[in-house]
Amino acid sequence: MPSKKFIIFGASGDLAKKRLYPALFELFIKDIKFDEYVGYGRSRFNQKQFGELAKNALAQKGCVGQEDFLARFKYFSGGYDKEGIKNLKSELAPEDKIIFYLSIPTSYELVNDILTGLDVNNLINKKTQIVLEKPFGSDFVSANKLNRLLLQYFNERQIYRIDHYLAKDLVRDLLTLRFGNSIFEPLWNNKYIEGIAIKIEEAVCIENRGEFYDQTGAVRDILQNHALQLLALTAMDQPKELSAELIRQEKQKIFKKLRLFKKRGIENIKIGQYCGYCDKEHIKKDSLTETFAELTAEINSPRWKGVPITLLTGKKLKEQSTDIIVKFRFPQSHPWKKQTDCLQNNELCFNIQPKNHIELKLNFGFDAQKKCATPINLKFGFQDNRFMFKDAYENALNDLQKEDQSIFLSSEEILLSWKFIDPIINLMDKNRTKLLKIY
Ligand code: BG6
Repeated sequence: MPSKKFIIFGASGDLAKKRLYPALFELFIKDIKFDEYVGYGRSRFNQKQFGELAKNALAQKGCVGQEDFLARFKYFSGGYDKEGIKNLKSELAPEDKIIFYLSIPTSYELVNDILTGLDVNNLINKKTQIVLEKPFGSDFVSANKLNRLLLQYFNERQIYRIDHYLAKDLVRDLLTLRFGNSIFEPLWNNKYIEGIAIKIEEAVCIENRGEFYDQTGAVRDILQNHALQLLALTAMDQPKELSAELIRQEKQKIFKKLRLFKKRGIENIKIGQYCGYCDKEHIKKDSLTETFAELTAEINSPRWKGVPITLLTGKKLKEQSTDIIVKFRFPQSHPWKKQTDCLQNNELCFNIQPKNHIELKLNFGFDAQKKCATPINLKFGFQDNRFMFKDAYENALNDLQKEDQSIFLSSEEILLSWKFIDPIINLMDKNRTKLLKIY
């Protein structure tokens, strides 16, 4: 009888501990189970030590009653090569339905070693699924190379390139809000919208990820993937149906038309580094890596041309908040013409986290004394109203086991997003000393 198995490469890493184990556990208690979970990594743990590591990781996330779940966990240590991976052979039968989750940086060399190891040990079959984390490659060329490598072993239906922002509850609902209500689409264009801002602000620092972060920076870590994906969902045209293929096609059309605002080059780029960054472990003392980045972009289509789009992210900022803000233009005509400041722009704000709300800013009762309208906010908080508010990784892993690719990324959209980002990084690289502000 073939079994369902979930194999994690990078099993003692931060991502596995903080995100994957808690999400797998939440699914487990909802009866979405694998027959076996196998952790694989270079760290030399015995079963008991690994059990402790997984138990602590779950306890830190407040997961209780983990014994049955942990009883299905095994750990194998070894290198990411054919010799090490041979160890997995004893656990996996050729007919098993296996998910390989690469919870490691997706460098070509590492992925190549693992895939070769899996292949020579006959651990890949037509039912195998493989998951890769972002950033997928570090530019167009490397992403393309990585794609070609994957396609030597898998077909596109087996490859899951994850961007967990697409699995966040409120992000999943963005398309329902936009296309399930007739009040937004007629206004969703440059005639009525003055600007769009996608902000992924983090109060946290780079934590223990110095090695990864110093080679990556804020643009590659967040803007190239999470922020561009949020933008695509905000700006794309309505697909005929919400299938993975059609959603991906619409997102691609946005990426194809994306450019820096009015082609003004470097004026549209701001970068910064938080004070104390260079003192962190694994960071070069004179590092010029950005921990903050803000780009002003534009979609060169009849619908969006001329609308500035701010894409912003940073570590160690005042707020920990992810927002999509759509700012509308003033009414073209209104009865208070003489007072220019009597109205405020309408805004539709989605707080993806931590407040999980939608807010619509309107002008209401006119205050005769102040000679202006009173701004009011219509707000709906999902956190308080929704029966189940799920973690992004839980959503993503659930879709993965259902083989639903809608929230996973296609190779084309990743390549197109690098096509937009690569020249920006080149510009940044040429001007880093001048551009980089310490904050
Ligand atoms: C990851 C980035 O993709 O997303 C991290 O690599 C970032 O740098 C994290 O902290 C943010 O995710 P979330 O779900 O906590 O907003």
